[in-house]
Amino acid sequence: MVSNKTLTKKEIAPLVSAALAPTIFVIFGITGDLAGSKLLPALLGLYVKKELPNRFAIVGVSRRHFSREELRQYLRDRMNIKPGQFFEENIKHFLDHISYVEGQFDSADLYKSLTDNLKSIDDKWGQCSNKLFHLSVPPVLYEGILRELSSSKLTLPCSDGTGWTRVLVEKPFGNDIKTAHDLDKLLGKLFKEDQIFRIDHYLAKEALQNISAFRFSNFLFEPLWNRQYIKHVHIKLLEKETLSLRGGFYDSTGALKDVGQNHLLIMLAIVAMDKPCDPNASDAMRRERARALSRLTAIPKRSMTENIIRGQYDGFKNEKGVKPDSSTETYFRIAAKINNRRWKGVPFYLEAGKAMAENRVEIDIYFKGDAEGKKNHENGIMGQNHQNILTFRIQPDEGIKIRFFVKKPGIGMETESKILKFNYADSPSFSSLPEAYERLIRDAIVGDQTLFASTDEIMASWKFITPILENWSKLPLVIYKKGAREV
Ligand code: BG6
Repeated sequence: MVSNKTLTKKEIAPLVSAALAPTIFVIFGITGDLAGSKLLPALLGLYVKKELPNRFAIVGVSRRHFSREELRQYLRDRMNIKPGQFFEENIKHFLDHISYVEGQFDSADLYKSLTDNLKSIDDKWGQCSNKLFHLSVPPVLYEGILRELSSSKLTLPCSDGTGWTRVLVEKPFGNDIKTAHDLDKLLGKLFKEDQIFRIDHYLAKEALQNISAFRFSNFLFEPLWNRQYIKHVHIKLLEKETLSLRGGFYDSTGALKDVGQNHLLIMLAIVAMDKPCDPNASDAMRRERARALSRLTAIPKRSMTENIIRGQYDGFKNEKGVKPDSSTETYFRIAAKINNRRWKGVPFYLEAGKAMAENRVEIDIYFKGDAEGKKNHENGIMGQNHQNILTFRIQPDEGIKIRFFVKKPGIGMETESKILKFNYADSPSFSSLPEAYERLIRDAIVGDQTLFASTDEIMASWKFITPILENWSKLPLVIYKKGAREV
């Protein structure tokens, strides 16, 4: 098995300046949805903040036919940026850094053209640049691209000290445990582990990183962070968007593989993990996340219907690219359990859906209330169930809040709930939180793998998800209305 050795922050610091050497970003699938919605806006954001190397170029690769000018216009129209977020002049200068190579991803000719293109940039700069290859294409294309990249020798550095090469692989990483394992084996054969960056962009969300900071620096909560005091945990990723633009991809993927195996389980890992021996050491963080995931209990076949809801929004079958008889889920809710001393018996509800009433990514920790202990309930003040809830709001309105109880003013001892909260946006210096992809690109340039998924995390999550997928089509499919609050 390949090693997941990553660098500590101290080891990384001296590498930062070296990393800011001339760098070329090669984006496979530059005309796709991900490039327009996340990658290019993140690169633009870094460019405007002057956080990219002085000399950088973007080489887009795609199967479509475009002249360089047509491509830039196409990308400009598709880049997901808010009106007024950047000056048009900055956007134009940024787009000037993009060139284009057209071809079939598994054809050796494409890699010859790519080699020529990269060489011409290096020749112009008079030096061998670093190269980041980003696979922003459907996973079925990974194998062909990885093999061609390796056999064309494009992933070899110029020498020991110059021109590193790295490969960024998007989720979903495989389709099930077997294909994930095969992909990992292939990557391990073609590249060294420190060249491989497996993306789950949720790891780089600021409000999610804040959960570890909150847990491991507020000792008030640590003694309560277990089954004795926590009743259940609810992790939600609810989105208003429908799949009008990504029907084809989504129909063959479904919500569970799109966000369940990765984003939802990584949020679970961050909440459930033990404190790493050194929270600043990237290896230790990844190891603890993987350890928590590896203790997920497989849901027995016979109890799947009790523990899982599978849904599809009304109208999904009419979306472009979706089969008219599709039974692909756009929603799921799973009650997961973790079999270790800290969490035995505590349900972790994982819920995700498209076409929901609102955008809300949130983790709610429900503490046990009076009602959980009959004796306490009998003695409870005015018979109320006092249940504290700690909420980590991941987006939008990122922050943390705690529901607690106080006495209602006046006669008697009746209580009422109040909220204690922290919102990033309330701070006077707040403008916006760093974008996850900006952070990921910077970390990949610097060579820090902390916020990238390790092999062990990916395999542990597939180990939990694969048996569910094997029985998926036998579970009832609930049809829900667009804009539903719950399913
Ligand atoms: C992506 C999924 O990985 O994450 C999308 O493919 C989903 O379907 C997206 O909408 C959510 O990410 P974010 O950053 O917009 O919350």
